[in-house]
Amino acid sequence: MWQAVQWEHFFKRVTSKKQSMKLEGLNEAVEFGAKMREENFSLQEGETFLNHGSYGSVPKCVQQVRLRFLEEVDRHPDDWYRRNGYKYWQESQKAAADFMHCEPQDLVFVQNATTGVNTILKSCRYKPGDILLYTTLTYRAIAYTCDATSELYDGVKSVELDIQFPISSEDEICEKYEDFFKSNPQTKIAVIDAITSPSAVVMPLKRLVDLCHRYGVMAVVDGAHAPGTLPINLTDLGADAFTGNFHKWVYTPRSCAILHVKREHHSWVHPLVTSWNHALTLDKQFFLVGTNDQTAYVSAKYGVEFYQRIGGMDKIIGYASKLATEAHEYILKKLQAEPLQIPQSMESPTMRVIRLPDLPQYPCTREGSIAFHTDVRYKYNIQCAIELIQGHLHLRISCQVYNTMEEYKRLADCLLEVIQTSRKN
Ligand SMILES: Cc1ncc(COP(=O)(O)O)c(C=O)c1O
Repeated sequence: MWQAVQWEHFFKRVTSKKQSMKLEGLNEAVEFGAKMREENFSLQEGETFLNHGSYGSVPKCVQQVRLRFLEEVDRHPDDWYRRNGYKYWQESQKAAADFMHCEPQDLVFVQNATTGVNTILKSCRYKPGDILLYTTLTYRAIAYTCDATSELYDGVKSVELDIQFPISSEDEICEKYEDFFKSNPQTKIAVIDAITSPSAVVMPLKRLVDLCHRYGVMAVVDGAHAPGTLPINLTDLGADAFTGNFHKWVYTPRSCAILHVKREHHSWVHPLVTSWNHALTLDKQFFLVGTNDQTAYVSAKYGVEFYQRIGGMDKIIGYASKLATEAHEYILKKLQAEPLQIPQSMESPTMRVIRLPDLPQYPCTREGSIAFHTDVRYKYNIQCAIELIQGHLHLRISCQVYNTMEEYKRLADCLLEVIQTSRKN
């Protein structure tokens, strides 16, 4: 193919003379909590942010790096796309691969976890009878992806594995999967959540990946919340494909996720958009997907640097999980509410979920959940997630290095007021 030859030639001649960017203005010595927020984040003053899990928050110094990359693109677009972009991209790919413990050539960037799962499911080829498996707890956009993919092929179906609360143990989850595989030997792919959303349940990931392989099923992991939250070693995990956001818990600007593909699958995995490098290696294909904005991808290296310099997983997750436990207990007590019924070993280190009482003002529907969190946001300047889970509204709190216990106490007071007012009306 002539274009493959041409672009191979291009990659051999990339002659970037650029120095790497530096992360400037990071005050890493500052203690976690209010000071951390003030020094290193640009969250709106007067607002309480307890929903890091939905969209993340980018530290000021990482935002600055991204802005400098954007300026560099516009100072000399040709230099960026023909000479320097690939060098930055590879540096960031290496940093992300080191962070996730895998080989750089097996890891590429995609815009988000939704794109990552779509990429694998839609690259794969199916035959009649094949089954795509997800669960009741799967993120709905991903469930729709399974449905939409199956609709592209005659005789292929997507199936939802029923998982209801209470969940008594990790064994219970593994048994459900195993029973399904036993009675459905044509299962081609199982999409496995690392941490479910919105329910924030940590699934027994390694056990499920191994189980898939025992039954000849491809394990595609939706690890949207996993990078930076769980100690994942992608090489040891051995999933066929794994996608995870860096723009949630690794402090990277939005539109940055990783997609890790096992070497044996490289030949059939392609970006959703076919571009010049279609015939080249996995990483070169994903580097050039038309003329796109690569500045979030090349900033991943600096999100990782921020993460490591403020203390790494031990310190960040140590702080967040202690806060999550305390906040969870406090809110449960204050609202006399029910926790989500899951074993402790399956609780997310950074997010917790509490069932809210059924209230006439806020019906247990998607509209009701939106009305509830919108009211809390505009009445009290608090952003938290309120989601519909198995027919009831639930509160999901996130804990990050910029949060403090006082914020969750305030949330509990405000929620109590909303509940009492709603009951009076
Ligand atoms: C489990 C899970 N999968 C997928 C996604 C989608 O992430 P994104 O919107 O970045 O694609 C989310 C987002 O919160 C999620 O929690």
